[in-house]
Amino acid sequence: MASSELFDKIVNLSKRRGIVFPSAEIYGGFRSTYDYGPVGVLMLRNVKDAWWRSMVQLRPDVVGLDASILSPPAIWEASGHLANFTDPLVDCKSCGSRHRLDKLEDPNTCPTCGATGEFTEPRQFNLMFKTQAGPVEDSGAIAYLRPETAQGMFINFANVLNTSRKKPPFGIAQIGKSFRNEITPGNFVFRTREFEQMEMEFFVPPAEADEWYDYWCNERLQWYIDHGMTAEKVRLRAHESDELSHYSSGTSDVEFEFPWGWDELEGIANRGDYDLTQHAKHSGEKLDFFDQASNSRYTPHVIEPAAGATRTMMAFLMDAYHEETVNDETRTVLRLHHRIAAYKIAVLPLSKKPELAGPSKEIFDGLSQRWMCDYDQTQAIGKRYRRQDEIGTPYCVTVDFDTLDDQAVTIRDRDTMEQVRIPIADVEQWFAERLV
Ligand code: GAP
Repeated sequence: MASSELFDKIVNLSKRRGIVFPSAEIYGGFRSTYDYGPVGVLMLRNVKDAWWRSMVQLRPDVVGLDASILSPPAIWEASGHLANFTDPLVDCKSCGSRHRLDKLEDPNTCPTCGATGEFTEPRQFNLMFKTQAGPVEDSGAIAYLRPETAQGMFINFANVLNTSRKKPPFGIAQIGKSFRNEITPGNFVFRTREFEQMEMEFFVPPAEADEWYDYWCNERLQWYIDHGMTAEKVRLRAHESDELSHYSSGTSDVEFEFPWGWDELEGIANRGDYDLTQHAKHSGEKLDFFDQASNSRYTPHVIEPAAGATRTMMAFLMDAYHEETVNDETRTVLRLHHRIAAYKIAVLPLSKKPELAGPSKEIFDGLSQRWMCDYDQTQAIGKRYRRQDEIGTPYCVTVDFDTLDDQAVTIRDRDTMEQVRIPIADVEQWFAERLV
C-alpha cells in the first residue's frame, strides 16, 4: 500500500470508527485540534497506562507526579524557554503563507505557491501559549500553559526527595497535556498545538550519567517493540550536535517509520545538571543531594525519556493497520497488542432474541470486571466480527442458541479468525492466560 494511501486510510478509519474526530467539527473545525472518540479515548488511555505500568508501577526507583499546567513566567525564565523555545518563522510575501524556516526543503522556495526569494527575514517565534491567571490584567498575572511536563518534575525535586525516601538514581514520571503554538501543525495528530506527553526525569550521580543514558535509550526502544510495534519500523537515532536542545549534551530519538518517512516518537536526553542548577539559581532554593555514604553534596544529572502519548497512539495505529483478502472480500484489521487495543473482548449474542440476552449479559458483566469489553447485538454476526477487527479487538465471544443447552460459547481470534468452543465456566481463565 502506498504511504499516502495508508495515511488517508488511518484518518478515515479514525473518523468512521470513533477513534479521532476533528475538533469543533460542527463549527468547521479548529486549527488542527482533535477529539478522541469512544474507541480512541480507550486506546490513548491504554498507551498511557502501558507507559505508566512500565515506568512507574514495575519500578521501585520511579515515583509519579501530576503537576499543574498553568505556570508562572519564573519557571520558564529559569528553564530557558522564554529565551530559547523558539522556531524561525518566515512569511511568503507572494501568498502570505507562514513556514518554519528549518523545516523547508528549499529555504528559498515557498512550498505553498512555489515563489522563490519571496520570504521575509526570519523572526524567532516563541512557541509558548501566554495567558493571564485571575481577573486583573497586570504583569503579575501572566501565566503560561506548560510546553512540556518536565519542569514540573524539576521544581518538585526537593518535595519528592523529602517525602518519597528515594535517592539517586531515581526518577519522577508524569503524564499530561502540554501546549505549543506550533507554526506548522500537521500530519493528523503527529504535530498539534495541544497534545499529551509521557516524561520521566531520572536523577543520577554525575559519574553514572552516560551509563544511564545508554540504559534508557535501549529500554525505551524495547518498550515499543514489547507493545507490538514491528521491530523494523522503530529505531534509535542519535542527534547531530547542531540538533541538540539548549539543555542537552546528548539526545537520541526513538523514531518510527511514518508514511512520510522516519520521524520522532520520543527523545531520550542527557540534560546534565542544567535544570536543577538553573532552578536553584533562580529560586534561591537548594536543589541538590547530600550523599551520606561519601559525605558529599552534589547536583544530580538528569536522563530524560520524553515521549508523546498522542503521537505514539497514532504510530501504533499505523503499524497495526492491515488489509487482507478473505473470501474475496477485503478485511481491515488492526493487529494491535492487546494492551493497546481499545476493547480486549467483544461479547456478541448471535441474535437479539431475549433468551440470548440473559447469558450474554451475564458473561459481559463477569468479564468486564477485569477487562474492557464491548457488547454488540445488532447486524449479522459476520459484519460485527469485521467491525471488531477494524478497531483491533483481539477476541469475540459469541453466544448462540446451543449455548442454552451446552453452556459453552465460541471464542474467535482476531488475527487467525480461528474459533474455539469453550465452557462458560472456563472463559475467564481462558482469557486470563492470554491477556497477560
Ligand atoms: N521535555 C523534553 C521535551 O519536551 P520534545 O522532544 O520537545 O522534548 C517530547 O517532546 C515528545 O513530545 C516528542 O518526542 C513528541 O512525541 C511529543 N511532542 C512534542 N511536540 C509535539 C506536538 N506538537 N504534537 C504532538 N506531540 C508532540
